[in-house]
Amino acid sequence: MAVMRDMLLYLSKNRIANRMAKRFGLRLGAERFVAGETLAAAMKKVAALNESGLVVTLDHLGEFTRSEQEAKESAEEVVKGLQAIASAGAAANVSVKLTQLGLDISYPLCLSHMRTIVSEAKRLDSFVRIDMEDYAHNEPSIQMYEQLRAEFGDHIGIVLQAYLFKTEADMERLLVLKPNYRLVKGAYKEPPEVAFPDKTDVDRNFIHIIKKQLDNGHYAAVATHDDAIIEWVKGYVKEQAIPVDRFEFQMLYGIRTALQQQLAEEGYKVRTYVPYGTDWYGYFMRRLAERPENVSFVLKSMFKR
Ligand code: FDA
Repeated sequence: MAVMRDMLLYLSKNRIANRMAKRFGLRLGAERFVAGETLAAAMKKVAALNESGLVVTLDHLGEFTRSEQEAKESAEEVVKGLQAIASAGAAANVSVKLTQLGLDISYPLCLSHMRTIVSEAKRLDSFVRIDMEDYAHNEPSIQMYEQLRAEFGDHIGIVLQAYLFKTEADMERLLVLKPNYRLVKGAYKEPPEVAFPDKTDVDRNFIHIIKKQLDNGHYAAVATHDDAIIEWVKGYVKEQAIPVDRFEFQMLYGIRTALQQQLAEEGYKVRTYVPYGTDWYGYFMRRLAERPENVSFVLKSMFKR
């Protein structure tokens, strides 16, 4: 299983496969995890999710770009997403990846795209969450968050990954900003020098950092499909009388949909992360790596006509 996971994560960064995937459209069963190739298709899914009591964070897929043109187009697409959400009156915000907006080209270029996006979010009274990517981009992402938080206040949030050793220290460093975090386990392949290699340690640290965030009184987005962690959070907020408007659960589109629905029916805020676009390959490969059993439906879809 670990070998399969490593192989899928290695393949997730393959540029040739990524280019081919863009050209051939949603394939290999990717439509299970990706809401469509266009904003219009994704907005239909957003409306249906809202209808069923779930709120959304919309993600225009893309990452690791080295083209200034692509970075500019991605920023324009995110702005269009914010505008589509506002004009539809949808209960949704957006998530972005900084390497999609040119972080690998230059920090100032990416910052200028982020300023355009977050100022539009502010104008529309919306919210932008910076997804956290691999370790190499962790520090610049945190720095950019600090800068944007100072400029735009509550319209920007970030993600912390429980698998990184540095996460707890980052929480200390960012405490003065009263941050709104999404807490996740972490989806990239990282070396044992920077991340817990053992899943049980990651799970333990996840609970440790959520508890810290809730105890600090800052908004917590608990992003996991893990029953044990979800049950722990439900128990802790009850015990501490933490109101339901101080946290939310988040899950990915196409994963544990019945559980998403059930939590919403129990009165919790549940946000579905809805990715769309043609650049689906890296995202899809990470979803396969999280659960190598998913590879079997890829194989089935290859033989389906
Ligand atoms: P875990 O992997 O232990 O899974 C628990 C259970 O969930 C499994 O037993 C299975 O039932 C189900 N499950 C999990 N993954 C599945 C899959 N792919 N297919 C089918 N079932 C699955 N990561 C990151 O590094 N940076 C980020 O910015 C984000 N953003 C993000 C947003 C949201 C809303 C979510 C839910 C997750 C992320 N992640 C992320 C991904 C995260 O780091 C992690 O890789 C996945 O959520 C899988 O871990 P779980 O916490 O679900 O637990």
